This record gives sequence, structure tokens and C-alpha cells, in this order.
Amino acid sequence: MNDKELVAFEAAKLAKNGMLIGLGTGSTANYFIEHLAKRQAEEGLKISTVASSTISAIKAQACGLSLVSINQIKQIDLYVDGADEITPNLSLLKGRGQDLVMEKLLAQAAHQFIVVADKSKIVNFIGEKFIIPIEVIPNAWRIVKHHLEQHGAEGDIRLNANQDNIAVAASGNYVLDMRFPKNVDDQSLNTLLNNTSGVVEHGVFFQLAKKILIADQGIVSSM
Ligand code: 5RP
Repeated sequence: MNDKELVAFEAAKLAKNGMLIGLGTGSTANYFIEHLAKRQAEEGLKISTVASSTISAIKAQACGLSLVSINQIKQIDLYVDGADEITPNLSLLKGRGQDLVMEKLLAQAAHQFIVVADKSKIVNFIGEKFIIPIEVIPNAWRIVKHHLEQHGAEGDIRLNANQDNIAVAASGNYVLDMRFPKNVDDQSLNTLLNNTSGVVEHGVFFQLAKKILIADQGIVSSM
């Protein structure tokens, strides 16, 4: 097993009979889905799941997991997802895919939100390696971009894979990919983005993760 699979395998051990489990999005989350399905098939584990994206729902269905829709739930027992960046104070950057609203909703609704990642995701500050994805109401994208530029941010609206049209998130919104000055810490960034009208949600997950499982060369430890 590579490190992403190993950490997902460990997280799948946390599933218990009767749980409603949130499924994240990405390659590490995919391994988690596979190992949950394996426990269901081999041990008769009885669980229901809710997916954070269409792609995860398709994966879960293909693996034989039972899915409920997000609009049927108020809370979930466990949410397991990957991250793009993880800081020592457990802040996360997520949402390289386009479903960060769903991801944050499930993280917020979860009794236990467990992040699974390999060591490459650990950074000193949010934005060290990746741009910050910010989902915006389509009509507001220029105003939001300008407002964030006043705070030193640089970036642009996200384009689709062919680079010939604007990318549209699952919720119908646009995404700004912005880089902020290094001296803007995760808490200030979170506050700025939360307080900017037109922003639907953003990729900074501040004080949401309670436990992070990290795999490094075949060994899993927790932060
Ligand atoms: C998707 C995410 C993913 O969790 C993040 O991009 C990590 O992906 P991977 O497990 O493939 O490295 O936030 O929106």
C-alpha cells in the first residue's frame, strides 16, 4: 500500500455499525471509499454514506455502498476527507476539486471530522503551495476579486480544463483562485473570506478538523 492508501485504510477502521459516514473527494478519499466497501463486504459492516461530490457518489455506488442525499441529513457520525495543505495548528486548505461547499458542509455536520493525508501535505502556512479556491456567486466575481485585491491578493477566475470557458462548480457558482501575501495568517484569511459578500464558501478550513492522520513511509501517526 502507498501512504495515501495506508492512511485511508486506518481511517476505515473507525467506521462502526449504524454510522452515517461522509465521503470526501480526491485520491485519498477514494481509497477510504474502497476500504469501507471492503469492510462492508468482508465483515458485514452496516453503514450509510453521503458523498461530498458527484464523483465520490459514483465511486461509492460502484463499490456497493449505500448512499443518502445531503438534503436528507442534519448531521453525520464521521467525515473522512483529504486535504491539499495542513498546518501545525490543524488548519486546512481544501477544494482543488470544485465541491468545497459540500466538503465544508459535511465537515461542519460531522460529529468526527478526520483528515487523511500523506506527509507531503504538511505546510507551515495556508497558501504555501496552493492557491486559495474561493467559490463566488457568478454575478459577483469581479466585485469579489477587486475587493480581495485591495487586501493584497492576486489571482483570477478559474477556467475549465480546456481553458476555453469559465469553470462552474457543482452548485452553479464560479471559483476564484487567489494567492494572498505570506503575512496573512489562516485566521485572518478565514475572517476576511467569511466577511466578503459574494463569497459562498472558500477552501480555508479553520478549526474544523479535530484529528489528522498522516502517513509517512508506511507509518501512520496522528496530529
Ligand atoms: C478536493 C480536496 C481533496 O481532499 C484534496 O485535493 C486532496 O486530494 P488527494 O487526496 O487526491 O491528494 O480537497 O476538493
